[in-house]
Amino acid sequence: MTPEDKPSRWGGLIISLHWAGAAIILALIALGWAMVYGGFDSASTFDLYQWHKSFGFVALALTAARLAARFAGSAPPPPPSPRWERRLSAFAQGSLYILTLCAIVSGWLAVSTSPLPVPTRFFDLFVIPNLAPADPSLFAGAVLAHKLSAWAIAFLVALHVAGALKHHLVNRDDVLRRMSPVWPKIGSARR
Ligand code: HEM
Repeated sequence: MTPEDKPSRWGGLIISLHWAGAAIILALIALGWAMVYGGFDSASTFDLYQWHKSFGFVALALTAARLAARFAGSAPPPPPSPRWERRLSAFAQGSLYILTLCAIVSGWLAVSTSPLPVPTRFFDLFVIPNLAPADPSLFAGAVLAHKLSAWAIAFLVALHVAGALKHHLVNRDDVLRRMSPVWPKIGSARR
């Protein structure tokens, strides 16, 4: 495919999955932080854990759909940025996919191997099966992997947002607008 054949912006499905995924990841970080460090009573903490785990499985479905849509469709051409910037951006985006999958699998493994077994009820509708039997050392490793991947995601999301804002406010190019649900003509940036 030549650069002329590439679409000028992302398709509607990718845009919807991008913003739904972003909202879920931010909600998961907020819920994870609140349930671990919030100091709520045990009933509320239990509910926060169940919400966190349920939204974690929604994130799994969204990430799988997003990867499938990304490989099935074509992407707009890369912006005319310096090579180091394009490489950093590709690294941050690729790492976000990998770390999201790591956070989901390690979270699922942690609740599966916990010495204190608590069933994962998906929005109180049905129980999600465990990946492995209780195992204290696997549990400790999974919790550590989960925390590291969750906080690495938070850092990369901040980097990703900073990059998008730099494109929009400093470079004044189309990078942010072509991932936006609306495509404003008024006040559109010069290229
Ligand atoms: C992209 C998906 C996810 C993100 C971004 C995320 C984020 C977080 C964060 C920020 C924390 C607090 C970390 C800390 O203690 O410093 C946390 C804790 C936790 N998450 Fe997740 N999470 C995700 C998916 C899941 C899933 C799918 C499950 C289980 C099915 C899960 C289960 C847990 C558990 C059990 C804890 C408490 C760990 C502990 O301290 O004992 N998470 N998560």
